[in-house]
Amino acid sequence: MADRHQEGRSKYTADRGIPGAFEGETVTRRRLMGLTVQGAGLMTAATFTLPALGFALGPLFSREPFNWQPIGTPSDFPNDTYVTKVITIVQGIGEAGKSIAYVRARNPAIDTEPEDQYNHWVALSSRCMHLGCPVRFTPAAGRFICPCHGGVYDFRGMVTGGPPVRPLDRFYTRLNAGLVELGPRYSVNSELHRFSPRDPGEPLDGIGQFLYPKRFSTSVLPKD
Ligand code: FES
Repeated sequence: MADRHQEGRSKYTADRGIPGAFEGETVTRRRLMGLTVQGAGLMTAATFTLPALGFALGPLFSREPFNWQPIGTPSDFPNDTYVTKVITIVQGIGEAGKSIAYVRARNPAIDTEPEDQYNHWVALSSRCMHLGCPVRFTPAAGRFICPCHGGVYDFRGMVTGGPPVRPLDRFYTRLNAGLVELGPRYSVNSELHRFSPRDPGEPLDGIGQFLYPKRFSTSVLPKD
């Protein structure tokens, strides 16, 4: 014990003459209380922050499963107006998982984006790209109108007025066994370049495509 004193400050509280210390004790009561309070503080902070982090980061890792859904025969879809189709976007939750798609045949006179096996039929999502309200197609005007904040889209789903930040999302389409099928949703920028699905309010032009990158686990595009 004497040697320990000679080497400097002892780790034993009894050696340092602390009142009430007992033989072999190495942590002072003040230190113990401090550690206890810090631990309780950390646990409290984790209680609040971990669920919030999970809520914020969870969607990044979520995958949007999809099934190709038959929506009709090719003759059901003209190329000069849209046909409204009820589709299932989330499986297994009944009516809550259904949405509306506006579908027409590709019209080479107005559809100038490159043609491939997935866009012989143009299928637009009804979800507004401002905050997600359902848009409605008005045949007389040939436009999609959002009732929430006045968003307006032209016949191809391009923004022509109001706050939406990008064109209406689209769905891949294909012909299978004589039926037109609708596949996964994708997003487009103002040049109709395809991007993996983004949320409303996320622009895809210019720096927007970098500010709102794709969720790396949602590469559900046929070509991804
Ligand atoms: S949600 Fe459509 S304009 Fe705001």
